[in-house]
Amino acid sequence: MAAVAEPNTLSLDLRDIADAKAGPMLFSAAQRLGLGQKIVLQIDRDPQSLLRATAFQLRDAISWSVSDAGGVWQAEVRPRKEAEARDVVDLLTWDHYRLDRQFADVLAAANANRVAEAESIFQDYWIGLRRHVHMENFILGPVLGGGEKKGPLADMLFEHDSIIQQSRLVDETFLEKDYAMLPAICAVLSGSLAKHENREENTLFPIWQAANNQDKLRAEELLMQTKALLGGADDAIVKERFPD
Ligand SMILES: [Fe+2]
Ligand SMILES: [Fe+2]
Repeated sequence: MAAVAEPNTLSLDLRDIADAKAGPMLFSAAQRLGLGQKIVLQIDRDPQSLLRATAFQLRDAISWSVSDAGGVWQAEVRPRKEAEARDVVDLLTWDHYRLDRQFADVLAAANANRVAEAESIFQDYWIGLRRHVHMENFILGPVLGGGEKKGPLADMLFEHDSIIQQSRLVDETFLEKDYAMLPAICAVLSGSLAKHENREENTLFPIWQAANNQDKLRAEELLMQTKALLGGADDAIVKERFPD
């Protein structure tokens, strides 16, 4: 029922599919939405209550618009943060949540031996993680500070190296089709990722937020740049810095 029509657009046809099944389908598509991506939904009934229920499950992470053309409704669903992020720290905190969800899905699929699904979600996560780390390491760190030699910024850089390495290990596991260790490696990485994000949000992000607030114009530029980068605008540079 779901098909990729063009890059960054996922078409989801929920006509003739009851809410009990349509809800989980919409949920699993919506929870992976990245910046610059949208779901185009077709449905044969008013989708507002389905969309509201999905938004509730996703802690309000999506926004949407609905049009009605004679018995067939079409809805476009996008990440709410795309329009509403207050600043770069707000956006990165949301992206943590998104990466976590993706990785939890990789782990669940790996545990259930659904290897192809695990790999496809992992590839989304892997490029998303590298965009995120690129932004933090090379753009925000040098501008907003936090202690490059010693301090939360130094800790962040160190932990990023480890998370990138562990993720590369997962990537190699898929490449070599050596799936026996996959759930164990994924479980370790999932823990490292959650710990890192938590530490970052509690120690470094308050410093960045304060520094960012001191220059309104720069803050707006950083927010635009981060949206574009997380949406894939600089993938050539990102992949050069963090090869597969
Ligand atoms: Fe982060
Ligand atoms: Fe980070």
